[in-house]
Amino acid sequence: MILTQSQVSAVFSAGIVFVFTVVLFLSGYVLQQRTVHSLQAAIRPRLPKPLPAPKPIQPPTLDVKWARPIGAHPEGDEKLQHFMAEQALDWSRLGYVQVVREPLELCSAVMLLADLHKMRSPAKRILLFPRAWLRQMEDETAVDMYTTRRLLKTAVRMHGVTLMPMETIVDGADESLASSYSLASLYSLTTYERLVYLQQPGSLVDPSALDSLLAFSRSEPMAAYPATAEREDMSTSLLIVHPSDKDFRRLKEARTSQAMTDLELFRKAFTTPNSLISEWSLSMGNVVYDSHQLRDAIDGFNATVFEAATTFVRFSDPEIPGPEYDLPFYERMALRPKNEEAREAWGKLYDRFRQRRMEVCGLDLETYSRPGQADEEDEGTEV
Ligand SMILES: *[C@@H]1O[C@H](CO)[C@@H](O)[C@H](O)[C@H]1NC(C)=O
Repeated sequence: MILTQSQVSAVFSAGIVFVFTVVLFLSGYVLQQRTVHSLQAAIRPRLPKPLPAPKPIQPPTLDVKWARPIGAHPEGDEKLQHFMAEQALDWSRLGYVQVVREPLELCSAVMLLADLHKMRSPAKRILLFPRAWLRQMEDETAVDMYTTRRLLKTAVRMHGVTLMPMETIVDGADESLASSYSLASLYSLTTYERLVYLQQPGSLVDPSALDSLLAFSRSEPMAAYPATAEREDMSTSLLIVHPSDKDFRRLKEARTSQAMTDLELFRKAFTTPNSLISEWSLSMGNVVYDSHQLRDAIDGFNATVFEAATTFVRFSDPEIPGPEYDLPFYERMALRPKNEEAREAWGKLYDRFRQRRMEVCGLDLETYSRPGQADEEDEGTEV
């Protein structure tokens, strides 16, 4: 076949058009794939680092007070490795839970769950709140429930929180009283295998140690953070629980027969030290740190090392009613740690709380007035 010159050039230009189209398509495709990959990387939950090797690791020696004795893990290395390999991780059955008994507690709880979301913990986020609120919120004219409704909506829409209404722990108790609700309701969440509870108000610095504990620990009915280094008592600052109907019924019955605080209830229902988080698990660093301890920091304290080694800080300065209150400047100055690095860490914790409160809850700090005689009666049922 003989082609004329014009036919040749037509075929030739069609070829060029085709080649360019392919090049354009390919470059677009490559670009798109890159965007998809970076998007996937951005939304992929951060997987927890495995627990530290069962050989004793040195805890960060930031100051002598923190140096916790390291307990040997009860199992041999091989057994543990085997156990970890066997664990089929189902993140939908592992979660962080917050319990709010009154509207005042809601913002701090949502903040913690929002931080877990932001720090890309792969576990679920659950919020237990009084069922009575649902009824009160239906009444659109209830102005006092406006913030509550808004915060619950934000929790679900912005931070992927699952809302779980709870009943009073004693059947028929006054639904409007915070003291009618109990942490024992954690045990009613039986669709979950393990749940971490952190007491508020606090500041989450890095959840990866807790993610590891959730992922790789055996389910125990109760693993509580020890109240002291001597491990003679439990605290409610951090709990890891395995919910079950049996324990829920047991706790409910005990609480019905006698009024008591949650801590008293748990002390009665679970034995110490068996129901404490193992020393080995806590050797990862400062899993729970009390903010007032920063005031005892000794020379050589390093704020960078502190942050890297800390999971959760509980606001516990006895003179400060809570981080949600705006303390007069001079009072705050007087309370700051003397050590320069510790002061920096301390100030950062309170400042961050204030900032997150605004970002997450849209709330400014509460004005604080020294408790008069009127307020003092209000001391309460807090655990
Ligand atoms: C704190 O520790 C970090 C990391 O180890 C180090 O780079 C920094 O210089 C230390 N800061 C002080 C004030 O010693």
